[in-house]
Amino acid sequence: MIILAIETSCDDTSIAILNNSIPLSCITQKQTKIHNKFGGIIPEVASREHQKVIGNIFLKALDKANIHINKISLIAVTHGPGLMGSLIVGAQFARGLSIRLNKPLIAINHIEAHVFSSLIGINELPEFPWISLVLSGGHTILLFVDKEFNYKLLGETTDDAIGECFDKIARHIGLGYPGGPVIERLAKKGKPIYKFPESFINEDSYRFSYSGIKTAVINFLEKNKSKIEDVCASFQKAAFSPILIKTKKAIKEFKPKSLLVGGGVIANNYLKVELKKLSKRYNVKLFLPEKKYAMDNAAMIGTCAYYKYIKDKFILSQDKVINPRWKIHDQH
Ligand code: KG4
Ligand code: ZN
Repeated sequence: MIILAIETSCDDTSIAILNNSIPLSCITQKQTKIHNKFGGIIPEVASREHQKVIGNIFLKALDKANIHINKISLIAVTHGPGLMGSLIVGAQFARGLSIRLNKPLIAINHIEAHVFSSLIGINELPEFPWISLVLSGGHTILLFVDKEFNYKLLGETTDDAIGECFDKIARHIGLGYPGGPVIERLAKKGKPIYKFPESFINEDSYRFSYSGIKTAVINFLEKNKSKIEDVCASFQKAAFSPILIKTKKAIKEFKPKSLLVGGGVIANNYLKVELKKLSKRYNVKLFLPEKKYAMDNAAMIGTCAYYKYIKDKFILSQDKVINPRWKIHDQH
């Protein structure tokens, strides 16, 4: 089955063509340089950019996959959560094609797609139950999944997302956007000799917080002339500590068979190594996305759609409006 998948929830325009869950092409155009000028994403600018490039990206994706438009049998598009104007561009494009080609259209939840990013190219769902982590610029979420498409939210951030925290600290130091990769590079050359707040680690909950550590690091940098590499190493260790502690707690409580991790932050090697240790110790099978599919991309939208379609669990969206606040655990 040839699937066309479209992702425009934030500032990346991404279109993929898949054969079931195997990507034949995945073309992503980032708007980073445009938004860097403003020091953050401007929603109006983002939607206009999506509008400008989406047609061309679609043609490139077809061309790279060497697929004729008439071979598409299913269309998948991100319906939320995300920026309203950006979501509308992708949804309208998908809707137009769905009507023109007379093919079904599936509404996909962006967070659920991050969960499925570790299953791109895999043709069977991992053994249940799952624990899943989605760590990105907009989300810090821990989920329990007892069966197909049934999500229980264990906890999320009460303020900033973990990726956002990396980005804000990097911006403060003048390292540009996105902050994660630069901070990781510097952290590798430093030692974690400073102590920064590790939120809620002694609390019997699954919630997270990243605004306290962000302020602590920024204040520390203003008052001390320390080696930036050591500050980055210390921050990185403290930022990931609650993630690892809460994931371990969830593994002990829910005894999952599989651990699925997604979102741009999972590109971080320190985190990957620590998660591998954890999964080995507790005998849980770990599923990580390839680095290129950790960030926002349409291949994860297509893979999620593939599984929903074959399991008959999809929401037709030709006449539905987009939902910028769509929660993963609120799908029915
Ligand atoms: O999933 P994503 O592409 O977009 C959102 O949906 O937010 O994630 C982007 C986020 C950014 O905050 C970026 O700083 C972070 O992922 N990130 C990293 C690394 N690479 C990207 N964070 C920590 N370490 C990294 N190596
Ligand atoms: Zn995302």
